[in-house]
Amino acid sequence: MPTERPFSLRRLGTALGAEVSGFDFLQPPESLPIKALYAALLEYQLLLFRGQTLPPATQVAIARGFGEVQVHVMNQYHADGFPELYRLSNVDDAGRPTGRHPDRGTLAWHTDGSWQRRTGQATMLYAERVPDAGGGTEWCDMYGAYEALDAATRAQLAGLRAVHNLDFSRNRRHGEEPMTEEQRRAVPPVDHPIVRTHPETGRKAIFLGDHAESIVGMAYAEGRRFIDELNARIVRPELVYAHRWQPRDFVIWDNRCTLHRALEYDTSKAVRVIRRCTVLGEVPA
Ligand SMILES: [Fe+2]
Repeated sequence: MPTERPFSLRRLGTALGAEVSGFDFLQPPESLPIKALYAALLEYQLLLFRGQTLPPATQVAIARGFGEVQVHVMNQYHADGFPELYRLSNVDDAGRPTGRHPDRGTLAWHTDGSWQRRTGQATMLYAERVPDAGGGTEWCDMYGAYEALDAATRAQLAGLRAVHNLDFSRNRRHGEEPMTEEQRRAVPPVDHPIVRTHPETGRKAIFLGDHAESIVGMAYAEGRRFIDELNARIVRPELVYAHRWQPRDFVIWDNRCTLHRALEYDTSKAVRVIRRCTVLGEVPA
């Protein structure tokens, strides 16, 4: 028997994701159908809600309903009085575009929080202001990436672990806002299996992306090559959902079975303001 859902779902494409309709976030947070939303997320990997008014407290309430909410180490981005919320914005205090991307690391395929021992479970983005051109987000299905590999590659990856390091990915991508010594100490490199088993669905997924720096037991340069090649190979066009943001879109995705990246836009002319929070997941296994 399918679970009764107080909303309806429509597939976004062939890769992953569903658009949710018949849902309103302007209800008391305690009446939100958290369990049904989480179940839908497990099934579709990404949920899109269009045209929503989403109070910051409601965004945090959904995140708390899913699990423990991450307070990001880069504390200069905290938003609306909630340490759980993080605003990605290219607008200065006078309301003008700064000409700078707020986090250039997000332009490379990655999965949120893979640089922590407990990695990201769900990330939730609410679009406050979006550019007319560019600035989209893309997601790639990592169940599909694993399933597309030949048996020999799957055997080669079994047991391999990658070291994920936020300091590496941030500084390599954009040295203009390096981490402080304190931030760096708070997030030392960690290693995770390259093939992880999703703790809820039991399905295998590739877990890699741009925070991965090296491979345990492999010479550094060889590991770098290995990661670059595998990252290029797992992102296949038929596994990608590309989203063009409209104001008041809300997207939730599962970091345990997807990679994502942001797309460039003209940061000197256009404005992009996104309110985000990330739920902490498990230690990958
Ligand atoms: Fe991200």
